[in-house]
Amino acid sequence: MSNICISNQKNIERAAKIIKTGGLVAFPTETVYGLGANVYNAQAVANIFAAKQRPHFDPLISHIAEVDFLKEYAATDERVFALAKRFWPGPLTMVLNRVEENPSIDLACSGLRTLTVRMPNHPTALALIKQSGVPIVAPSANKYQSISPTTAQHVAEGLGNKVDMILDGGACAVGVESTIIDLTGKNVVLLRAGGTAKEDIEEFLGQKILISAGNPDLPTAPGQLLRHYAPKNSLRINVSQPQDDEFYIGFGAIQGDLNLSKSGNLAEAASNLFAYLRLADARAKNGKIAIAPIPDNGLGLAINDRIKRASYKRKS
Ligand code: TXA
Ligand code: MG
Repeated sequence: MSNICISNQKNIERAAKIIKTGGLVAFPTETVYGLGANVYNAQAVANIFAAKQRPHFDPLISHIAEVDFLKEYAATDERVFALAKRFWPGPLTMVLNRVEENPSIDLACSGLRTLTVRMPNHPTALALIKQSGVPIVAPSANKYQSISPTTAQHVAEGLGNKVDMILDGGACAVGVESTIIDLTGKNVVLLRAGGTAKEDIEEFLGQKILISAGNPDLPTAPGQLLRHYAPKNSLRINVSQPQDDEFYIGFGAIQGDLNLSKSGNLAEAASNLFAYLRLADARAKNGKIAIAPIPDNGLGLAINDRIKRASYKRKS
């Protein structure tokens, strides 16, 4: 039996009860579906890692519904509040220093001295957080390293009964995960390109953002693993001339078997990306997928980041 429940007031109330009593709820955000738990309940947080088969060195994002809550939770300053005012609710995640010894959130933070926070721009997510009365930690609701879910069905396919309830709020509008910036130092450092364009943050701050090259083997640079978001089939990127036996995902004037955005709109392409990778997985006849070149500006940076990692081949 499916545990997908339509997002309405009654089901959000039930979901909040599940969160409060230590269960797991998958819920929609504007970026991708999250697998949520009460940040202060270490057992529930441990169950997230287990359900996703995610290594414990990879910390989780706390989702909050009120900016004021930040003061209790993390080290803040004017820059943090200005960014929150401009970009929240929305797909921007901030890495901040933790304020006090709070061992109950150690697991969610993978023992780091920093924590990550965002306020999602989705009515279901915001209502769920408010009614739960606690920050909800939520990674994307998929198995570790596989394609992120942008519908409730995707969550059910990947995690099934490992989740107590899946709140169905329809397809995610943004379609790629939040942009993550590190604000623990003087500079602003981009850790993950995502649904908020780097250019927009730079324009707002009036300064350039540094890009972290990241070390895929180091726990202090999580989210930068070389292989991630991966389809089952092999994937080639930046392909203008596909081979006859490749399932070809096009963009703009390049039609392909499926087109991420005929008009070359990067926001539309981002919202289609993960669903199209799943479709390509199902339809590719010879185990091969290719993707047309995508411009590397705006949301294109996030798209290229995802498909680069998705195309990474393990050395065997
Ligand atoms: O859009 C999103 O951000 C979605 C929705 C559900 O909110 N969440 C999401 O979570 O993408 P997840 O766990 O799949 O990705 C969060 C990334 C991870 O790669 C993790 O390594 C990184 O954020 N991260 C979390 N805490 C961190 C920290 N303190 N320092 C550096 N990176 C951190
Ligand atoms: Mg993820």
